[in-house]
Amino acid sequence: MVDLCYTAPVSFFSTRLAWPSAVNALSALRAERRAAGLPLLDLSESNPTRVGLPRDDSGILSSLGDRRNLLYEPDPRGLLRAREAVAASCEARGRRFDPDEVFLCASTSEAYGWLFKLLCDPGDAVLVPRPGYPLFDYLAGLESVRVRSYRLEYSHPSGWSIDLDSVASALAEGSVRAFVLINPNNPTGSYLSRREREAVVGLCARYGAAIIADEVFFDFPVEGGERESLLGEDRVLSFVLDGLSKLSGLPQLKLGWILPSGPSRELAEAVGRLEIIADSYLSAGAPAMNALPAVLEEAVSFRRALSLRARTDLGLLRSILEGKDSPHRVLRCQGGWTALVESPRFESEEELALGLLRDAGVWVHPGYFFDMEREAYFAASLILPPEILKAGARAYRDFFAAFD
Ligand SMILES: Cc1ncc(COP(=O)(O)O)c(C=O)c1O
Repeated sequence: MVDLCYTAPVSFFSTRLAWPSAVNALSALRAERRAAGLPLLDLSESNPTRVGLPRDDSGILSSLGDRRNLLYEPDPRGLLRAREAVAASCEARGRRFDPDEVFLCASTSEAYGWLFKLLCDPGDAVLVPRPGYPLFDYLAGLESVRVRSYRLEYSHPSGWSIDLDSVASALAEGSVRAFVLINPNNPTGSYLSRREREAVVGLCARYGAAIIADEVFFDFPVEGGERESLLGEDRVLSFVLDGLSKLSGLPQLKLGWILPSGPSRELAEAVGRLEIIADSYLSAGAPAMNALPAVLEEAVSFRRALSLRARTDLGLLRSILEGKDSPHRVLRCQGGWTALVESPRFESEEELALGLLRDAGVWVHPGYFFDMEREAYFAASLILPPEILKAGARAYRDFFAAFD
């Protein structure tokens, strides 16, 4: 009989991650409030399927019932008709793309894993933006790859820029195999400028690092400004990532893609090796691939609706939090689904976030989740229904006012 009380020795497990064991104080308090049935104004909600965005789903639903979903047609790159749909969508960004160089996978998170396997040996490093999206410690750690960071700096009101010296000094150390760019970055909403693009391409070419450009938010400009895509960059080995999670707001369909480009010899090598990785997993599913043309068609109006929502929400946030003599400042947000608010540091960010939850019922992500250099910053979702954003922003403002 199996002994259910058996506890595995710690040595069974890999040390590629500092496996988290404790629940942080904020999540614990939120779970407690939920269990007690207390109301919550969730300013962090970024699930595009739960914020009441209008969509015309009839074409998507009928193509999910396609009979071809019952056929198994394995192809390491994914079904050709789906790759053709991705290539056609690139033309909207002004780039022709060969469908034979499109790689479909289950998500951009998986694409990172494939590219880290392609480019890095265990112990090599990838260079990621700070502040940035917290998933890299896991995605890199799971491939036994180290994370180094480069700085983004903010100046008001012009916005964020890449600290190119921090990129150069990290690349000069020699262990960095890939420069990761989130374009626009999450949560800073900053796009790559032309000057930055030239500098980054030059540095990566000089130090032999590839570029991984995550452009999942590229088609969601908010306050706008210069925006350069890495799509089709041919001076250095580059991989642009995108997928349905953001482009069409349907993360549950599980479809992402990699668009490689670069000098012809390196590109041919990369594509050949990527094919071996992709063939080992064959992870893109037939229903999502067969539905892709219909999904991408509908995504145009989805993005229009979302962009209108994001601009409305940012306007509301500014009008509620930036009145005359207000201690708050909403940072410039060029694009994406998130706005950053700078507020007085009456207490540490964690204490403020706990207070907001306990006293005002507001759940908001503190800046330290994204490795902001200073306190106090909070990230608000720009895809919230406006009435929820309004109520949350007012409660947030009143919570801080009570410190006076
Ligand atoms: C910048 C960025 N890249 C990638 C992803 C993940 O996308 P996917 O669902 O395709 O893995 C997210 C999710 O929030 C994101 O913020």
